[in-house]
Amino acid sequence: MSITILGIESSCDDTSAAVIRDEYLLSNVMSNQDVHMKYGGVVPELASRAHQQNILPVVDRALKLAGVSLIDIDAIAFTRGPGLLGSLLVGTSFTKGLSIATGKPMVDVNHLQGHILSHFIKVPEKEINIQPAFPYLSLLVSGGHTQIVRVDSHSSFTVIGETIDDAVGEAFDKCAKIMGLGYPGGPVVDKLAKEGNKNAFKFAKPRVEGLNYSFSGVKTSLLYFLRDRVAENESFIEENKNDLCASFQSTLIEILMEKLVKASKITGINEITIAGGVSANSGLRDRVVLEGEERGWRTHIPEFRFTTDNAAMIAIAGYYKFLSGYKSSFDIVPVSRSMDYL
Ligand code: KG4
Ligand code: ZN
Repeated sequence: MSITILGIESSCDDTSAAVIRDEYLLSNVMSNQDVHMKYGGVVPELASRAHQQNILPVVDRALKLAGVSLIDIDAIAFTRGPGLLGSLLVGTSFTKGLSIATGKPMVDVNHLQGHILSHFIKVPEKEINIQPAFPYLSLLVSGGHTQIVRVDSHSSFTVIGETIDDAVGEAFDKCAKIMGLGYPGGPVVDKLAKEGNKNAFKFAKPRVEGLNYSFSGVKTSLLYFLRDRVAENESFIEENKNDLCASFQSTLIEILMEKLVKASKITGINEITIAGGVSANSGLRDRVVLEGEERGWRTHIPEFRFTTDNAAMIAIAGYYKFLSGYKSSFDIVPVSRSMDYL
């Protein structure tokens, strides 16, 4: 018997709905919120309001594109957290309403598990859909998180390393902000870095024990470096922006890779995946593939549309939870902070 899941994601500034049937993606609709651009970051109240505006049309479109109606859905998966509370409340309340109206069960999903399990989404147009084998390591790199997670099954996640301060996505965003490149910073830094020399400038790398990360120092190192150079030449950033982006990005990738390689050595796991918004970075993607070839890893690089926040990943994570018999109770509430990996 097939199982059809409607997924809803509203943790930050993207409203998204997707339909998955037995791991196969039938639709994945997104509505991005341009309203935050002029503020240089996500404004929580504006995000909640935009979710409220977008959620019904987005869900309606996802169902239509998938060619299914609510009657065909077995469960509604939604993001419980972590994320912005006001944004999460919109998705959670919407799901509760839909659930009570249709009699379909709800399945709450940890947003981070969604990113980590996004590699299991099968795309009907692809002849072969390769999924990771357990156990595998996930380098989860997003705007709010930087972790190395050991994944033993669809429901067993162990964080073996994580940032002790900023997330790597924040470092990308901050770099763009300091250089006046707009928000979100990752995609623009990535684009400019392609035209620059990654060896042009050097930034201090942190020394952190074990498999943990730190990104606040490298961010400050860029800030002070630019402050001094701009004092000598006010056009310094404009004249060197490609090299600056290439060098800064390369430092971040070095930091990420050093611990990922170490994690693989310590655990003996050569099945390696990357996930989250920063896994869209072309430099990181190339580097993981290259490192994998040298080290005999089986690497899994996600499709671009499954890297940044999307409901397909919430639907696939919800699918496995539902398959195991899990259903949320009606008194479920969103959680803004990181939840334990259950
Ligand atoms: O996973 P995501 O969409 O949201 C969170 O769960 O945080 O990640 C967003 C982060 C932002 O920091 C954004 O700048 C970064 O992902 N990002 C990138 C790229 N595309 C998005 N960072 C580097 N290179 C990219 N191409
Ligand atoms: Zn995310």
